[in-house]
Amino acid sequence: MDIKCVGVIGAGTMGSGIAQVMATAGFNTILIDRDDIQVAVGLSRIKHGLEKAVQKGKLSAEEMERVRGLIEGKTDLGSVADCDLIVEAVPEDLKIKTQIFHYVAAICVPETIIASNTSSISITAMAAATTHPEQFIGMHFMNPAPVMSLVEVIRGLKTSEETFQKVWNFAKRLGKTPVASEDRPGFIVNRIIMPMINEAFFALMEGVASAEDIDTAITLGTNEPMGPLALADLIGLDTVLYILEVLHREMGEDKYRPCPLLRKYVEAGWLGKKVGHGVYDY
Ligand SMILES: NC(=O)c1ccc[n+]([C@@H]2O[C@H](COP(=O)([O-])OP(=O)(O)OC[C@H]3O[C@@H](n4cnc5c(N)ncnc54)[C@H](O)[C@@H]3O)[C@@H](O)[C@H]2O)c1
Repeated sequence: MDIKCVGVIGAGTMGSGIAQVMATAGFNTILIDRDDIQVAVGLSRIKHGLEKAVQKGKLSAEEMERVRGLIEGKTDLGSVADCDLIVEAVPEDLKIKTQIFHYVAAICVPETIIASNTSSISITAMAAATTHPEQFIGMHFMNPAPVMSLVEVIRGLKTSEETFQKVWNFAKRLGKTPVASEDRPGFIVNRIIMPMINEAFFALMEGVASAEDIDTAITLGTNEPMGPLALADLIGLDTVLYILEVLHREMGEDKYRPCPLLRKYVEAGWLGKKVGHGVYDY
């Protein structure tokens, strides 16, 4: 079965970006959220994203309208019944995700592939909530999905080779670069980047250098586009802490122990760019 129609569940930061990527690549896309307001917010985020692409000359005004026409916003989860691929992007909560997978697995044809955009939950555990775990997979887009070219494709314990190949090829048709990861905490990117961010917080806490100098050192010293503390602010310090806690708990290794300073910032509500204050002021 070829992938023609895609369902994206959750029209938040990631879901709206993923829907934009799908439609830009020419796929009919159904974007689901739980109420009309959330759907409207998601669709307007996509409109804004496409307008930016037009301004940058990456898309013509006609193409933008064609892409918008390929996306249908819905609140009824049953609307994805005929989709060939479903990408779930609801909040990072196993209970919410599992409820969705139960429902979707019951209404879709057996061939439908179900993918999760989770950052830290076990693909194998979520697959167990479906009737066809061999057709369940992780498809981890980076934020912002329309801009970032990487997609981590994650095999659960029972994911079939056929499902893996289909999703791998589909990611390429989206114009993305897929990488294959086994189902281990943090997959590839977060497993490597989170300890670096954590170490930057330890260095800041110990007074090794100022936040600005830590970021400048890493930016210029390793040719990164952004320092680890600025990156943490962008991701959200609560999200960083959550992923570190998952790594620490699941791997059982002290090297993932979240820095107390990071914990304090989160307790203080300094969650980063999204609230106007984190390591830096915005
Ligand atoms: N934000 C990131 O940087 C990032 C990057 C990669 C992966 N992820 C992962 O992507 C997923 C989504 O993250 P996000 O940042 O887009 O979250 P978000 O909070 O921006 O969006 C989640 C959306 O899901 C909707 N939703 C909640 N319950 C629902 C339900 N039952 N049915 C339909 N919609 C429902 C919410 O209304 C909201 O619009 C998470 O698993 C997260 O770990 C996030």
